[in-house]
Amino acid sequence: VSKDAEKMIEAHELLKKFYHHLLVNTKEGQKALDYLLNRGFTKEIIDQFEIGYALDSWDFITKFLIKRGFDPHMMEEAGLLVKKSNSDEYFDRFRNRIMFPINDHNGLPIAFSGRVLGDEKPKYLNSPETKIFNKSKLLYNFHRARVHIRKNQQVILFEGFADVISSVKSGVEQSIASMGTSLTEDQAKIIRRNASEVVICYDSDSAGIEATIRASKTLLDAGCKINVAMIPDGLDPDDYIKKFGSEKFRNDVIGASVSLMTFKMNYFRRGKNLQNEGERLQYIENVITELSKLTNAIEKEIYLKQLSKEFELSLDVLNEQLHQKEKQSH
Ligand code: GTP
Ligand code: MN
Ligand code: MN
Ligand code: MN
Ligand code: MN
Repeated sequence: VSKDAEKMIEAHELLKKFYHHLLVNTKEGQKALDYLLNRGFTKEIIDQFEIGYALDSWDFITKFLIKRGFDPHMMEEAGLLVKKSNSDEYFDRFRNRIMFPINDHNGLPIAFSGRVLGDEKPKYLNSPETKIFNKSKLLYNFHRARVHIRKNQQVILFEGFADVISSVKSGVEQSIASMGTSLTEDQAKIIRRNASEVVICYDSDSAGIEATIRASKTLLDAGCKINVAMIPDGLDPDDYIKKFGSEKFRNDVIGASVSLMTFKMNYFRRGKNLQNEGERLQYIENVITELSKLTNAIEKEIYLKQLSKEFELSLDVLNEQLHQKEKQSH
């Protein structure tokens, strides 16, 4: 790493500790701490994830960094300060937010994500791309999860930081998240290098379901085996854990994860009335198209039998339809 990068990391190290101190030890941080405790974050979890609070001030951090000899221009390049237009002055990027430090895969702090305490927008403000922060190659919590990922040969992939943190709290430590954007090819390759199996556990709203389909393609291309853990009722994993507890999350969500094919069959069913002949045919067509992409003959047979049973169709007919599909795609 260059001298600049070292200095930028040093600033993040310092601010991470300072934000954490403000959250847990000061009266200014009390409402942020109450917010977190109300959401079910524990003192231990706040310590473990080094969560902090940025004061409601335009220049506290600017002054803090300058006083300690950091060059404000470099701190702007590090994403911590923002330069006023038409002026040489700087101000704090993160104000009145809960601060989640983001570490690189060696555990060095290189960025922050700051959450508002209420419903204001944007809900999360992330550090911009910098010399030390490359979002597309970074997985949140990877440096803590790595040893558990290797041991379990499994990654649990979430959408949000809060989901990762709650999952770890519930005892599932091989938990990571992408950076609030779609999973990238680089992130999928990093996952594949460390484990063979991925369990996608995204929010159960439509955005999360669509994102599951997208991420599964990227992960398949990287050579991962994929399962999907489905959360009921439009909740997200963090909501679920808060509502139903750790044990149910481990057993009924993670432990009950299904194959990607089963997830897709559920997905194709969504909003369809299978009593209706046209919609039923459409559903069967969708499933067979998906089956034609599978390489494992045993898997194909299992799902064909399932279709045959559910819709009282002969296996011969379904097999013939599948072979036709396979020919088309070659
Ligand atoms: P909580 O409301 O704190 O539980 O957050 P969440 O993780 O449930 O948020 P949501 O499901 O809406 O979004 C998932 C992830 O997308 C978040 O963890 C963020 O990384 C990212 N995200 C959400 N809102 C924003 C935003 O306003 N700006 C940016 N840059 N990222 C966001
Ligand atoms: Mn502490
Ligand atoms: Mn979401
Ligand atoms: Mn969510
Ligand atoms: Mn949430």
